Amino acid sequence: MKKSCLILSAGDGTRMKSKSPKVLCKVLGEPMLGWVIDSVSELNFDKIGIIIGNGADSVRAFAENKSDFDYFIQAERKGTAHAVLQGESLFSGDFQQTLVLCGDAPFVSAEVLKNSLEFHLNSGNDITVVSAKLEIPFGYGRILRNGDELSAIIEEKDCDSEQRAIKEINSGVYWFNSKMLAEILPKVQSNNSKNEYYLTDTVSLCKGNGGIVRAFLCDDSSIVLGANTRADLSELNRIARDNIIKNHMENGVDFPLTDGIIIEKNIKIGSDTTILPNTILKGNTEIGEDCTIGPNSLIGDCKIGNNVNLNNVQAYQSIIESDVKAGPFVHIRPNSTIKTGVKIGDFVEVKNAIIGENTAVAHLSYVGDSVVGKNVNFGCGTVTANYDGVNKHQTIIGDNAFIGCNTNLIAPVEVGENATTAAGSTITKNVPPNSLAVERGETRLIENWKHNALRVEVIKSKK
Ligand code: UD1
Ligand code: CA
Repeated sequence: MKKSCLILSAGDGTRMKSKSPKVLCKVLGEPMLGWVIDSVSELNFDKIGIIIGNGADSVRAFAENKSDFDYFIQAERKGTAHAVLQGESLFSGDFQQTLVLCGDAPFVSAEVLKNSLEFHLNSGNDITVVSAKLEIPFGYGRILRNGDELSAIIEEKDCDSEQRAIKEINSGVYWFNSKMLAEILPKVQSNNSKNEYYLTDTVSLCKGNGGIVRAFLCDDSSIVLGANTRADLSELNRIARDNIIKNHMENGVDFPLTDGIIIEKNIKIGSDTTILPNTILKGNTEIGEDCTIGPNSLIGDCKIGNNVNLNNVQAYQSIIESDVKAGPFVHIRPNSTIKTGVKIGDFVEVKNAIIGENTAVAHLSYVGDSVVGKNVNFGCGTVTANYDGVNKHQTIIGDNAFIGCNTNLIAPVEVGENATTAAGSTITKNVPPNSLAVERGETRLIENWKHNALRVEVIKSKK
């Protein structure tokens, strides 16, 4: 069976007061359209089309980054039926079934799509409307049933008071027999209170042709939720956040308190790991077992091993192996690998560096563009001077080296295995293995220096 999908994403989001089109407004860091794309991607469609209009270029740019789609421009917003009509090539030809859904209802799940397709095919429907029951159905199209079959969908503005009381609503997700859709869609009129071409009018047109229309009632009413305002968006974030945290809890992740915790949708966390308040996990982050992450940590696109402790750490696009302890107030910038057993203490920044096994960078240091061996000890205040104002240069430090406090390593420079740099040295030349480098001025002593005597006078005169 050849099947296609059309995602309606041309509408504007005036009430969001955003520069981005509505479908790009984010829920847990992912544009709403991205959530929808992720769900439909699980169904193996032969073609997926996106109807774009408002902010077409940015919607397209976002979607292109995710996968291959067909794009259809709806130049003017004349209603949902008009929007679908723009994608005609995806329900003409040899397509047999077509899914239509909205790009601004992020919680539609692959499971609901699969189950409703099964119902659609098994019942031999020409149209299956996915419906849900809402305590407050205001604003949605109401489902009018005739026993098992659906007789019509009436939009809020066109409802009489009796219809308005119906709680079963149209989610905006539909399966269509493609051929039938191609036949009836051009017949939809715009003679309603909004003068729009309503996709929902295909129900009565289909029935007029002797077709069968049924509703697939979904128990999870969150599938219909969309956002028109920032307040709606915040509510969607809250719902998504709670669901994601609940799933992690079910997988054995510990959250003593969930305050301020945001975990994006594709994060993996191992069991017995504890996530502490004010921790944000973003992108494609993976965390192993028995870790403690947080409090106050922001981790983006990192792969983290087991038994890692990150306290007040920001880390991006890096690998942190097992048994690492970092924090508080540590910044691990992209392209770093922190190997097993490393300790990184307070106020340390690491960038584009490999830190070897069991090395300690305990306090107030900057390690950038460096390759550091095993069991190295960095004294407090070590700086790799990697930038000469034009180019970046590399620092290489061998296993077991000891870098004295306040060492400046002027890259490119190499410190050999078992070498030591004396505290306060500015290392400008390579240090051979097993040697000590002292690069600092000799002490100069000037005796009988009058400074203190003068100060005593000043202090006396102030009294
Ligand atoms: C629509 C349904 C309603 C349903 C609700 C579910 C119709 C007539 N009504 O109402 O029964 O309960 O969705 O959310 O279909 N769009 C375009 N081009 C347009 C108009 C809309 O691409 O010209 C897109 C929007 O971006 C949006 C989707 O279609 O993603 C739905 O449009 P919207 O205007 O929000 O429809 P509703 O009035 O909410
Ligand atoms: Ca809507």
